[in-house]
Amino acid sequence: KASISAPPEAKPADKMGDGIGSVKQQISRLFETSLKTTFPDEANTEPMVAISTQKFADYQCNNAMSLFSKIKGKSTDYRNPNSVGQAIARNLPPSDIIESTSVAGPGFVNVVLSSTWVAQYIQSMLLNGIETWAPLLSVKRAVVDFSSPNIAKEMHVGHLRSTIIGDTLARMLEFSKVDVLRRNHVGDWGTQFGMLIEYLFEMFPNWEDVGEQAIGDLQEFYKASKKRFDDDPSFKERAQLAVVQLQGGDMKYRNAWKKICEISRKEFDLVYKRLGVYLEEKGESFYNPYIPGVLEELTQKGLVEESEGARVIFIEGQSIPLIVVKKDGGFNYASTDLAALWYRLNEEKAEWIIYVTDAGQQLHFSMLFSAARKAGWLPENSNLYPKANHVGFGLVLGSDGKRFRTRSSEVVRLAELLDEAKDRSKAELRTRLEDSGKVAEWTDEELEETAEAVGYGAVKYADLKNNRSTNYTFSFEQMLNDKGNTAVYLLYAHARICSIIRKSGKDIKELMKNGTVVLAHPDERILGLHLIHFAEMVEEACINLLPNVICEYLYNLSEIFTRFYTNCKVVGSAEETSRLLLCEATAVVMRKCFHLLGIKPVYKI
Ligand code: ARG
Repeated sequence: KASISAPPEAKPADKMGDGIGSVKQQISRLFETSLKTTFPDEANTEPMVAISTQKFADYQCNNAMSLFSKIKGKSTDYRNPNSVGQAIARNLPPSDIIESTSVAGPGFVNVVLSSTWVAQYIQSMLLNGIETWAPLLSVKRAVVDFSSPNIAKEMHVGHLRSTIIGDTLARMLEFSKVDVLRRNHVGDWGTQFGMLIEYLFEMFPNWEDVGEQAIGDLQEFYKASKKRFDDDPSFKERAQLAVVQLQGGDMKYRNAWKKICEISRKEFDLVYKRLGVYLEEKGESFYNPYIPGVLEELTQKGLVEESEGARVIFIEGQSIPLIVVKKDGGFNYASTDLAALWYRLNEEKAEWIIYVTDAGQQLHFSMLFSAARKAGWLPENSNLYPKANHVGFGLVLGSDGKRFRTRSSEVVRLAELLDEAKDRSKAELRTRLEDSGKVAEWTDEELEETAEAVGYGAVKYADLKNNRSTNYTFSFEQMLNDKGNTAVYLLYAHARICSIIRKSGKDIKELMKNGTVVLAHPDERILGLHLIHFAEMVEEACINLLPNVICEYLYNLSEIFTRFYTNCKVVGSAEETSRLLLCEATAVVMRKCFHLLGIKPVYKI
């Protein structure tokens, strides 16, 4: 039962924990030390470190200008921002990371990393695993609420987007050592159930014996019952009473409801299994018992008011309030979400709650979060934890620029869509292998597995590579193209790197232990630097909840690798060992990117 909860203790967001963290975090700590020594009176200055935009530097620290304007009146030690920058650079503690520094214009401290250190950093990742390159986030537990289709209604491409984006966000946070609760907030408690149950009773009085066969295709069943509901007022009335029976706990109605949910769940699970997505269902019904207590708390806090027969929460700046109890006394989407938010904060002790739905629900979530702030559940400052974010995404469009539909202009069935992706990728793979004369080297099983990895990977990548807030046009032709920024291109690029290593005939594990990475050629250094940006890239993707950041990084990595491979001979060169290790490090990082994007890597092509 819900009780009045104390306002949470707010803590600063995105502060470093212990452990090493990204290279940027390590450099930030050096500057933090310098800033403390140089300006002891400005103790709380956060170091502002970024990847440098200059050719001659790798990182830069940008604190000088703002510090100078702060201390201008108080101290005569500094003539201008540049002298502040000089002092910051001078007081950096000694470190193997930094090769040299220089101060530019208004005090930017430019940092050149030691190539030796970068090389060692890469080698130690190879030895100790890419997990050692996980960023440090300050949050311990997060809820990612994603996929969340509605029972008995179709799971449409919008839910597919939510499933793909939500899974990636969960994977990114999990990699960053956050305990993630992957929540499927299925719509299993709506008024549609009255209609469905009543229809079931009417059409199949012996439904308990026939069970699933009676219902057959749930989408068709839904359509038929909806038609009955719309056509016959007396049926409509019975359906509305059925909701009351169900919500009142009548066993017969409960069992029918359970059965319908089960059938739906089985269908959803097929899609999740194919996509390799794990979710834990806590549907709307789960939170129902918590609603009265939560509304009681909100009423006591003076948030809930009577308005036109309904009970509502007024939100500043919104002309329409958040309805929490309908005129007929029933609860709704908003009351459920209030209870769910309460539960996640107080029972599940989540510090970050992330909702992945289409952008159309933006207003709902913004009102929900405002209500939670009014109640003191969330801090006023939305950068502080505990935090709630709505991750909205745009529509999926067809090639006609309209909402994505099938030829028969129906909603796209996800299973069929995945079938098509796989079939197409299989056909293309077969042609490719026939053209290169390699088809005999492949077993049917390998072909099948690769077609699946490439086909599903293509669907996911095409979605994730866009900034999620934009609409995107669904096109099999585009996503399955082996040139350009596609999963196919990237998966094949990875397979090619694996084959370089295989063909060298060297034992790569052995090289990791006894060989040395050296970054001498400019293209080796560029590749090395891009590799070590991995952790801060993941960190940025996590903090801003943007999977496309990972796609961009991965695509750039593959381009940078190509340049390296074109300009630096690997097999048979004097630098072979080091260069093979760079190939391996690239493959490892690419695989982790694939993993974060929920894409299965391909090793052979
Ligand atoms: N079932 C909803 C839909 O299909 C999405 C639920 C999202 N999560 C939430 N806590 N409201 O639109």
